[in-house]
Amino acid sequence: MASKFRSIISNKIVQALDRFPLRGEGLKPGTIAPFVKVNSSSRGSIEFQVSVESLQQQFGVGDSNKKFTGKETFERYGSELIKKLDIDDTICGVYITASKKGSLLNFKVNSQKIVEEVINIVSHCPATFWQRSSLINRIPKEKVVVEFSSPNIAKPFHVGHLRSTILGSYIANIHEAVGHDVTRINYLGDWGTQFGLLKYGFQRSDLSPSDLKDDATRKLYEVYVCANKMAEEDPGVLDEARRIFNQMENGSKDELSIWQVFRDVSIQEFKELYKKLNITFDKYDGESMYSANKCKEIISILDEKGILTQLPDGRKVYELTPKQRITVVKSDGSSIYLSRDIAAAIDRQQRYRFDKLYYVVDNSQSDHFVGLFRILKHMGYKWAEGMHHVKFGRIRGMSTRKGTVVFLQDLLQEAKELMIQKQHDSTTTPENVLSHSEETAGQVAVSAVMIADMKQRRQRDYDFSWDKVLQAQGDTGVKLHYVHSRLCSLEQNCGVNFNLEADLSSITEPSALALIREIARFDEIVCGSLKELEPCILVNYLFRFSGLVNKALQQLTVKNAPKEVGEARLLLFLAARHCLAAGIQILGPQPLEQM
Ligand code: ARG
Repeated sequence: MASKFRSIISNKIVQALDRFPLRGEGLKPGTIAPFVKVNSSSRGSIEFQVSVESLQQQFGVGDSNKKFTGKETFERYGSELIKKLDIDDTICGVYITASKKGSLLNFKVNSQKIVEEVINIVSHCPATFWQRSSLINRIPKEKVVVEFSSPNIAKPFHVGHLRSTILGSYIANIHEAVGHDVTRINYLGDWGTQFGLLKYGFQRSDLSPSDLKDDATRKLYEVYVCANKMAEEDPGVLDEARRIFNQMENGSKDELSIWQVFRDVSIQEFKELYKKLNITFDKYDGESMYSANKCKEIISILDEKGILTQLPDGRKVYELTPKQRITVVKSDGSSIYLSRDIAAAIDRQQRYRFDKLYYVVDNSQSDHFVGLFRILKHMGYKWAEGMHHVKFGRIRGMSTRKGTVVFLQDLLQEAKELMIQKQHDSTTTPENVLSHSEETAGQVAVSAVMIADMKQRRQRDYDFSWDKVLQAQGDTGVKLHYVHSRLCSLEQNCGVNFNLEADLSSITEPSALALIREIARFDEIVCGSLKELEPCILVNYLFRFSGLVNKALQQLTVKNAPKEVGEARLLLFLAARHCLAAGIQILGPQPLEQM
């Protein structure tokens, strides 16, 4: 997209440095390119910026000479530098601006040339245009495993799981978008004493396995709640549950057969929900894969290396600090959450040879992951450096009319019903253009919930409000779909032919250049969002972009314009649609063509 201009500017700076007494040592022509950014606030023209500090910090430019010192260093340095810069008909102006944050070199680019470059690249590779960017090409390609969602069987799919699902899918998508080889794992909570208890409760309920054909999650949860009550009243129940689980750990076929049914029906239901969210997994793993037997080998490695301390009560612990001990093996030798995670990490390294493994799990499990990573590093596994806990905050106030224990299916159903209600109630634009198809309403509502979630910095707790989430006018997922579908309908109804050879010289209006400018920095946004693992960077960019598209649609008619102008504008709006669609897809939803 704008890579060509970034490298031209980079070359010019390097040449200027050659003619300048304060040159950076051994700079190659292209090295500065990644630091050349599209100026997102330039109006009426398209400009790029480089911060003088970044030149100093990254390349040591100017350091060898103490001529410029103190506060005005950067500004004076920059002013001297730009005097040496070549101006031509591609880079047609350069000036320096200074703010508290430092000074910036600003490069005005021939807008005709950048219009052609951007439209050309996007029209030729609509589904992967950003991958042509040198910012993205230079990222070394890695094997990335993303573990996310990971709900527990027979317990509600809570809000934490929902956030993990949404954020995890985005993390997987954005890694894939820049060319990494990504595997998506769902690590089910399908093991532990609670499954002994669940089996105990199920045998005493009036349910049979065939009753689990529908609404399994809810039914199993009810059984689980009931079994917990029995255990409270009679301590013997828990002993029995432990005994059952112990047999499961030892591979008892008898005890495992009903557990297998619980697991299968739950996965079936989860899959239906994920489909609504447009999310898929490559693997449904689970804690059950790392039962006591599997962990044994690992515990003996830990023992051999003297990493664990045995306590008088029989437990084996890891000392995170002299005051903080974490249990790795229970006194009865059964596996626990942590030991299973150690085994799972080692297994994943063997299976996938990952460079990076992301765990997308809420803030509350921070200590668990600190412990896990420390133990693996202590065991001598270098690859543990590539493991990261992607944390996130809580959503306050997410509940459905049925109550605060949120079952995901209820939440999605409610989103859909509210969306339909909103469509019926609304008489003003843009809601009144929304069709009343139930399926579309469901898709819009679900993605609105997803986008609302990704609009926030992920570590922040935020308040959930149906009203805010489903608005068509504010910054919501509804708006993104709406603008996308407007662009689709323009293409279908404008009566202008798609002509890749169209003359683009009529694209000069500020509202048109604004679109080009934003498309030109899509790669920067993707890189920024990836670096910080913050979807909000992409979401907020798309909100702003949609606003600009709406404005351009108002100002630049296609249908009744002269032929050449109409053709050029059609290509512009097509490029805008591809850019919007790419952004929405990286976030997760499938952009709608009709609403
Ligand atoms: N199932 C767990 C829970 O609901 C989350 C699993 C997170 N992943 C992991 N590898 N520990 O709390």
